[in-house]
Amino acid sequence: MSPAAAPASSAADTRHAEPTEDNVRELVYAFYDRVRADELLGPVFDEKLAGRWDDHLPKMCRFWGSLVLGTKTYRGNVQQVHQPLDGIEPRHFSRWLFLFLDTVESRFRPAAAVRFMEPALRIAQSLQLSRFGWDYPIPAEQQALLERVAPRRHPKNDVDDAHAHRPRGEPFPAKIVGRATDGDA
Ligand code: HEM
Repeated sequence: MSPAAAPASSAADTRHAEPTEDNVRELVYAFYDRVRADELLGPVFDEKLAGRWDDHLPKMCRFWGSLVLGTKTYRGNVQQVHQPLDGIEPRHFSRWLFLFLDTVESRFRPAAAVRFMEPALRIAQSLQLSRFGWDYPIPAEQQALLERVAPRRHPKNDVDDAHAHRPRGEPFPAKIVGRATDGDA
């Protein structure tokens, strides 16, 4: 998966250099416009969110604002909300990630784009592992993307090679976002 080539960074690069509340909202709405128009993802979201889009979109603005701007306005449990989704397959995740990363890269310069891409890739991986099991191999190109946007540290005297090449079955070191609340996020 490789998001569409973005314009090279130069004086002509009109993409945002910094996320703000306004451009995060524009990103969220643009992404979900694409999701809804997508023949694979559209029906999944439209079925689940019928009549609730007006709540979902501001919630997603709070989610991304919390991650990228540190607004701490999102309160929810991302894992839990995805558990009951039926019929979600690996290809749904690939499509979700492609659309999200592509939308981000078309709107933000690389240093700002990474701030969205890194949590998106990590959270997607964590959702994939809980949905498909610990033996599910994260697609190589998805892993490579994460390595590209968030290279793992390789300290000079790293003798703990076992950790660098984590065997399958160990907990995935992803930060799970949000905590369960009894109310809406
Ligand atoms: C195959 C990929 C995905 C599909 C099909 C999917 C689908 C959905 C659907 C249908 C909902 C609405 C659930 C409801 O309110 O009943 C939802 C909520 C949400 N999704 Fe996803 N999602 C996907 C991947 C992701 C990823 C990778 C992230 C994070 C980077 C994410 C973040 C969220 C958040 C924050 C919510 C709102 C949770 C809440 O209600 O507090 N989703 N997703």
